Amino acid sequence: MPEIVTQGTDHPLTTVKLQTGEKVALCRCFASKNFPFCDGSHKDHPGKGPAVVEAVASAGSDD
Ligand code: FES
Repeated sequence: MPEIVTQGTDHPLTTVKLQTGEKVALCRCFASKNFPFCDGSHKDHPGKGPAVVEAVASAGSDD
């Protein structure tokens, strides 16, 4: 389960921390009711869609 940390109020910065192997779809249309995650609401906004992010182990990592 990703850890979500939001800092600030005027221009909030949201950090989504993933474990190796986790994959999430992040909203880029700002219509999601489950922000920062995509909930499919982008279907009403042609040309918009999520960013899919997957955490993978890199060479030399302990994961
Ligand atoms: S709901 Fe915003 S990209 Fe899917």
